Amino acid sequence: MKILKKACYWPVGVAMTLQIDQRLEKIEDLPTIPHTLQKVLSSLDEVSTSARTLEEIIRTDPILAAKVLRLANSPLYGASGEVNSIDRAVVLLGFEEVKNLVIGLSLTSSFSGNLGVEGLEARALWIHAIGVGTAAKMLGSRVDGVDPEELFTAGLIHDIGRFVMCLHFPEETKELIEICKKRNCPLAKAELEYGLSHSEIGAYLATRWGLSEQIISIARYHHFPKSAGSDARLAYIVFLADMLCHKLQLGWGDIGQSKNEKILVPKAIGISPEAVKEVALELKASKEEIEHGWGSLID
Ligand SMILES: [Fe+2]
Ligand SMILES: [Fe+2]
Repeated sequence: MKILKKACYWPVGVAMTLQIDQRLEKIEDLPTIPHTLQKVLSSLDEVSTSARTLEEIIRTDPILAAKVLRLANSPLYGASGEVNSIDRAVVLLGFEEVKNLVIGLSLTSSFSGNLGVEGLEARALWIHAIGVGTAAKMLGSRVDGVDPEELFTAGLIHDIGRFVMCLHFPEETKELIEICKKRNCPLAKAELEYGLSHSEIGAYLATRWGLSEQIISIARYHHFPKSAGSDARLAYIVFLADMLCHKLQLGWGDIGQSKNEKILVPKAIGISPEAVKEVALELKASKEEIEHGWGSLID
């Protein structure tokens, strides 16, 4: 894999943000934040949150609890057959890992089934999101001053606007896909030119859901991280994680993006190309297990 120190981005227009917000405000049935996700995120804001609180949240949702156990026993988490209870999962996998499973599982339940747009399937989009979350966490654990766990959540959320686009603006989304196929260009680029961007939609939804400023900022700027101000470093990390997943063809693959594309390491992250290579190899080794482990739990 050839890795260079350079990157290019697109700017975002304030006028577009306002126009998209106005359209989204008219939608009456935008999904609300998954109940379990809200409970986990709000309880985790409290300094005294313990494994006990997390276990209680999981136990109140039996379907979620069963999924947590299935994932915990999958090869991806290396505890095959040993996890028969939630507290055992916390002991073997650790509090942070179980928390991430719960965040991932409750999020993937927010949008599932047929999204009605060929080329944007829910399962592929979610596997991409899990891949980006995993890669962002791996990158985050190799640099100072960032929270790898928050990066995992941010990676999961980064493309959430795509689900809303498919469900609420299906005709425009289909048209954009056709334009991209003709021009062989990435979907985000065509969205920006057209004035309907999954990044802006994702940021709107993340705001409605009361998610953190950093996560909102990453949803908005993950394709043009330079514009993210004080959150630029985090946005660059998710941007790079996104590139790595496309390169490895982990989950949904954008139009006009080939696996031969060179990965550009943004200087702003402060990570060496060698460390990025290490992450790429680690991610590649987990690819099949992410696809099978998480893929089997997404409807
Ligand atoms: Fe995106
Ligand atoms: Fe993405």
